[in-house]
Amino acid sequence: MSGSEGSAKREQWGSRIGFIMAAAGSAIGLGNIWRFPYLVGKDGGAAFVVIYLIITVFIGFPVMMAEFAIGRAAQKAPVLAFRALGVNPFWSLIGWMGTIAGGFFTLSFYNVVGGWTIKYIIASLTGLMEVADVGKTGEFFGEFVVRSYEVVFYQILFMLITMGVVVGGISKGIERACKVLMPTLFVIMLILIVRSVTLPGAGAGLKFYLHPDFTKVTGETFLDALGQSFFSLSLGLGIMLTYGSYIGKEERIPSSSAWTAGLDTLIALLAGLAIFPAVFAMGFEPGSGAGLSFITLPAVFAKMPAGMIFSCLFFLLLFFAAVTSAMSLLEVAVTFAIEKFHMTRKKAVCVMSVIIILLGIPSAMSLAGDLKIYGKDFMDAIEYICNNVLLPIGSFLASIFVGWFWLKPAIKEITNDGQVQFRWLNTWIWCVRFVSPIAIAYIFYAGLTW
Ligand code: PHE
Repeated sequence: MSGSEGSAKREQWGSRIGFIMAAAGSAIGLGNIWRFPYLVGKDGGAAFVVIYLIITVFIGFPVMMAEFAIGRAAQKAPVLAFRALGVNPFWSLIGWMGTIAGGFFTLSFYNVVGGWTIKYIIASLTGLMEVADVGKTGEFFGEFVVRSYEVVFYQILFMLITMGVVVGGISKGIERACKVLMPTLFVIMLILIVRSVTLPGAGAGLKFYLHPDFTKVTGETFLDALGQSFFSLSLGLGIMLTYGSYIGKEERIPSSSAWTAGLDTLIALLAGLAIFPAVFAMGFEPGSGAGLSFITLPAVFAKMPAGMIFSCLFFLLLFFAAVTSAMSLLEVAVTFAIEKFHMTRKKAVCVMSVIIILLGIPSAMSLAGDLKIYGKDFMDAIEYICNNVLLPIGSFLASIFVGWFWLKPAIKEITNDGQVQFRWLNTWIWCVRFVSPIAIAYIFYAGLTW
């Protein structure tokens, strides 16, 4: 079954474990391995980690359950889901915003960074370590990102790989790929951790990472933690809603959400454990921001024995994480095209990918300099609008919708019509009704600075 036409029987995940791997594959991405560690570095170490964990349990996880519940009840792509539920058409806004922000805009810059990971896998084997030996990883990165044709080349390559999987459909494409890639990712991560924590001098990194110092906490720490939690769990863009629309009626939403959120958090925590001990052991600073993975880490690897192999493994890990997330973003656009315009899956994948690649080209080129929107690089601007504006608005509206306008059907969905006991039901209701919308609204208001 291809699941291509709206009238055909709708496709489903092949197994429970396959679905969890796919949802975790979406959640675990550049956000965990590239963004989480650099935020920890920037926001003062373990104190950030503690705040992040609390936010993920009380805000991220409940919103994820809400998205799965809407998706499974509607059995439709985000844009059509709210109509299928028979609620006020206003709520379709969540679907439209999510599809445009996630399927198109987020993916348009995500595939640029995805392309960098391919470049760095190759570079690791072909001279990156020599460059790093002479302390020039910053220059290497700077010179690469301004060669726009090369950046676009890798961006398109990354997108072609993503397309190759998504064209296979839900169970034969995405699920099958994630079932192989996610365990592999886990093994690579463990190898890197063992290497990192056994380096002489690793203790300082462990202390920075595991010993909270709350004097470093500011308002920005909370903003960063909330934004990161939503981004990392793939919330607010209709992704989990779309994945939820392919789960079977017998599936348990609370435990699937717990697995997905739990694995995502575990991998983020492990990424820190792989990175900080090595960064400290080799005498580098953890607070280098977005350049931590692409500039600091190659320098760290170059100082280790067999650094080339660890560098290559690290970027392979980053690539696997990125590609399984990109699949989910593309799937939102594809499900939309299939259901709205009755395209076949193949056609939907091709048409949507071309649009997304074209949208991504300004992002890829903006790193070379001139392409700016009100003073921000094009890519930063798109990322900012998606992560700091559309994603919080999407999550806010989803919580309000479920908490205040669709609570009874949501409870029915979450308890499989009363057949499944969910011990934390009241806490969940409280979280989606109050904690999540208030926290998002406040943080959105406080954090909105261009
Ligand atoms: N969760 C992914 C990550 O951590 C990114 C992502 C965000 C994917 C939103 C889909 C939707 O990298």
